[in-house]
Amino acid sequence: TDQPLVLGFETSCDETGIGLVRGHTLLSDALATSMAEHERFGGVVPEIASRAHLEAMVPTVHRALADAGVALPDVDAVAVTSGPGLTGALLVGVAAAKAYALALGVPLYGVNHLAAHVAVDELEHGRLAEPSIAMLVSGGHSSILLVPDLSQDVVELGRTVDDAAGEAFDKVARVLDLPFPGGPPIDRAAQEGTASIAFPRGLTGPRDPAYDFSFSGLKTAVARWVEAQQRDGVHVSVPDVAASFQEAVVDVLTAKAVRACRDHGVDHLVIGGGVAANSRLRAVAQERCDAAGIVLRVPSRRLCTDNGAMVAALGSRLVMAGVAPSEPDLGADSSLPI
Ligand code: KG4
Ligand code: ZN
Repeated sequence: TDQPLVLGFETSCDETGIGLVRGHTLLSDALATSMAEHERFGGVVPEIASRAHLEAMVPTVHRALADAGVALPDVDAVAVTSGPGLTGALLVGVAAAKAYALALGVPLYGVNHLAAHVAVDELEHGRLAEPSIAMLVSGGHSSILLVPDLSQDVVELGRTVDDAAGEAFDKVARVLDLPFPGGPPIDRAAQEGTASIAFPRGLTGPRDPAYDFSFSGLKTAVARWVEAQQRDGVHVSVPDVAASFQEAVVDVLTAKAVRACRDHGVDHLVIGGGVAANSRLRAVAQERCDAAGIVLRVPSRRLCTDNGAMVAALGSRLVMAGVAPSEPDLGADSSLPI
């Protein structure tokens, strides 16, 4: 076939993700994670993440190749997350990707982590409709993007002004004594509870920026509410607090994403990033998109969180679009703009 075989490297946070994609077809997605080493710190420790990437790199590349049933010399191009993310962690991936590209004599593509979270959807649902609105909600980012052309033109309409949505899940989980990362346990606990507590919806006033988010006030409100209950000796229902918090996040996210579609006359929405694994977000987004006549695309849970296939997916798209590869002096940029 003339579809490019692309090897993707993702090391922006705690996951060492190595993926292989041919065209828009997912061949393999190998993952090593240092999450267990960060758990007792309640957040990702950059030095630990960097060292773990270094140790996991070569074995994870070999696993991705074996899973895909391809040999290294078959690879046509290498793609790597060059930002945004943790500098030291990114550097391990960029150095490794450069070494493989150089040794194989194939082009190297540095890609944006956020754009890769959008591109991964093409592996499951085919080519993205352009323009689309994309909402990215993860532990590090919460943004709404206008995507006229994912290969070369992505516009950020808004972002969080404080905490990312996933960060809010992680911090609220801590308040509720749930494990880190907090998204999955809150998602599970919420299924047993009712969203009976009215927590604040940040930046939803008539004069607030339409596409920006704020979650730190919500996190504080939850912490205050729990403290007050405990002070009064009232039993705190973890499922009810989880459900109420989650409802506040999901309400704001879905309302702003749908509004962005409407304001820009776009009828396709794609949601990506770790928080897109949230079951309530997926359900409410589907309801509101159906009501508004918007086609919603959300990758399967496995591909929502960080992985190497998303980087390979974007790399493959760039190769096929004839976009020029990166220079050999490609660096890591912790705050790489979209
Ligand atoms: O995209 P990702 O794997 O890494 C970053 O780039 O940040 O996202 C991780 C974030 C964490 O904050 C985690 O708590 C959140 O995604 N997350 C969830 C769920 N699964 C993961 N948040 C809500 N509900 C979930 N089911
Ligand atoms: Zn991510």
